[in-house]
Amino acid sequence: MEDASKAIVLFYLVGVILLGANADPVEDKQALLDFIAKFHHSRALNWNESSSLCNEWTGITCNEDGSRVISVRLPGVGFQGPIPPNTLSRLSALQVLSLRSNGITGEFPSDLYTLKNLSFLYLQYNNLSGSLPADFTVWSNLTIVNFSNNRFSGTIPSSNYLSGDIPNSLRRFPISVFAGNSNVSTEGASPPHSVLPSSKPGKRLSEAALLGIIVAVGVLVLVAFALLLVVCCSRKKGSGEDVYSISTKLQKGGMSPEKMVSRNQDASNKLVFFDGCNYAFDLEDLLRASAEVLGKGTFGMAYKAILEDATTVVVKRLKEVGAGKRDFEQQMDIVGGIRHENVVELKAYYFSKDEKLMVCDYYARGSVSAMLHAKRGHERVPLDWETRMQIAIGAACGISCIHQANGGKFVHGNIKSSNIFLNPTTGYGCVSDVGLSAVMSALAPPISRAAGYRAPEVTDTRKATQASDVYSFGVVLLELLTGKSPIHTTGGDEIIHLVRWVHSVVREEWTAEVFDVELLRYPNIEEEMVEMLQIAMSCVVRVPDQRPKMDEVVKLLEGVRARDTENRGSTGTSTPQMASTPVAAPPPLES
Ligand SMILES: *[C@@H]1O[C@H](CO)[C@@H](O)[C@H](O)[C@H]1NC(C)=O
Ligand SMILES: *[C@@H]1O[C@H](CO)[C@@H](O)[C@H](O)[C@H]1NC(C)=O
Ligand SMILES: *[C@@H]1O[C@H](CO)[C@@H](O)[C@H](O)[C@H]1NC(C)=O
Ligand SMILES: *[C@@H]1O[C@H](CO)[C@@H](O)[C@H](O)[C@H]1NC(C)=O
Ligand SMILES: *[C@@H]1O[C@H](CO)[C@@H](O)[C@H](O)[C@H]1NC(C)=O
Ligand SMILES: *[C@@H]1O[C@H](CO)[C@@H](O)[C@H](O)[C@H]1NC(C)=O
Repeated sequence: MEDASKAIVLFYLVGVILLGANADPVEDKQALLDFIAKFHHSRALNWNESSSLCNEWTGITCNEDGSRVISVRLPGVGFQGPIPPNTLSRLSALQVLSLRSNGITGEFPSDLYTLKNLSFLYLQYNNLSGSLPADFTVWSNLTIVNFSNNRFSGTIPSSNYLSGDIPNSLRRFPISVFAGNSNVSTEGASPPHSVLPSSKPGKRLSEAALLGIIVAVGVLVLVAFALLLVVCCSRKKGSGEDVYSISTKLQKGGMSPEKMVSRNQDASNKLVFFDGCNYAFDLEDLLRASAEVLGKGTFGMAYKAILEDATTVVVKRLKEVGAGKRDFEQQMDIVGGIRHENVVELKAYYFSKDEKLMVCDYYARGSVSAMLHAKRGHERVPLDWETRMQIAIGAACGISCIHQANGGKFVHGNIKSSNIFLNPTTGYGCVSDVGLSAVMSALAPPISRAAGYRAPEVTDTRKATQASDVYSFGVVLLELLTGKSPIHTTGGDEIIHLVRWVHSVVREEWTAEVFDVELLRYPNIEEEMVEMLQIAMSCVVRVPDQRPKMDEVVKLLEGVRARDTENRGSTGTSTPQMASTPVAAPPPLES
């Protein structure tokens, strides 16, 4: 009995290992290679036969075990002509297909009927014609379909099961056009766009114009269908009160998105992507995405944007960029070229006279600052010692990597805990906002939290260096150890600088007093905490030349860690090195 279960576990482990080591889904890859070979497109795609389909190909997402392609998103790639038959239809696990904003002609490809799991289909802004699919029920899970701005003709199939309220914009049509949908109600509907501010004449005008044209060409019913779906679907997602589209947010900030992107110009050309970036969206997507304010950073507002396919990114809107376009682009090129698991990847940027945006990865747990300082009980999980160590080691590796960029001359310039995140796949810290300080004109005011990280020499020279990055990192280490903000107030008005406070406590030999009370519950870590405190103190010495270099800091921290696992046994989470050792010998199954 016991042997049998052991065998099953072993079998499972071997299966997992084999699957994990498995390369791309071969048949899906071939289908996509056929598709792209037969389909003329004007924008280059990085679909290299020898690179990893699941990890590197633009616009492709695989399922979790990497065995099938589930999403193909290629908006604005410049496709021309009809969709090549017998290509996409072979991706039988496909759930999301977006080919919108291309120049696709011909009829709706009927072989897409074979995609039984298709849930999202975006074909808007193409030149497709002919009649609509006769039977939508072949896709039992179809949730959103968008055929708008094509040249389809005819009627939509009669047997629909639409539900929900008819949006106000469609109320002008006779109720008979909604016939056959038993659950469509015309009563008590709230306007679908109620989250948007009412003063948007531009939008209203274009909607009216659009409707006018559509009425003229007689595809009214189709629009009703599409819009009803929008309403049904957007309702499902639920809307927090702070959810507007990015464009609305920018507009509220005094900027008209229409000014930024005019429909006539190819907006995607302006959003600059970096190679190997696995996102396929354009500026228009970004502006349309629902957005939530994440917070106000040193250099401007940060928004969380959810794209139509549920991809989440962070959009930073930079204020007071001092650099001109060329300098900005040069700096972004360096940042975009940094690829390291401990550096938050810059996906894309946008630069115009009025607006500067940066797009990077989103980390759901928020910054280390939020993890440490958010109010207790407020969704805050105390950070354990192991995690703090991994944040420190990861961030140090990230900064060390940044310092090697641009021929070893690159400076981060804004190291602080709100720019450090926990990479959920590695469990280690990673650094964001790389190289921004160099393109900004403003230095944070002297009493802001950011000032608490600033090396003393920077206050005078106003110029960040690698040594001042080391100082700032030392402050982050102190923050991890003490749980205190770099600048905070005690009960009275007195402003406490963390570095000075730690100095004074250590001088009085009350070292144990500095550590975060939340850490006291973990046994046998005092020695490591003291070692880390020493490393932190060496980073925040006054004289820049006396601070260690960042790669030395990495070694010192890893030294603490190595002794730590030796002394306490390797019960903690594994380090990246351990994770990549061969897994030939199965772990003991006794326990
Ligand atoms: C595809 O990748 C291989 C190996 O990475 C490289 O040698 C080759 O030049 C690439 N081909 C194209 C068309 O980019
Ligand atoms: C379709 O989706 C279901 C549920 O997610 C899954 O079990 C099934 O394997 C999928 N079909 C294909 C062909 O991938
Ligand atoms: C249907 O689509 C939803 C996403 O909207 C997905 O979570 C679910 O697994 C899909 N079911 C099948 C059977 O494909
Ligand atoms: C769509 O097709 C029609 C006729 O084939 C052509 O005149 C028109 O320019 C096309 N529109 C676009 C946007 O490609
Ligand atoms: C209409 O809604 C009711 C209750 O929500 C549901 O039970 C019923 O199946 C729906 N009918 C159709 C045709 O979708
Ligand atoms: C369909 O596309 C049009 C044009 O991009 C957009 O206005 C509309 O909201 C989209 N509807 C859905 C269901 O995504």
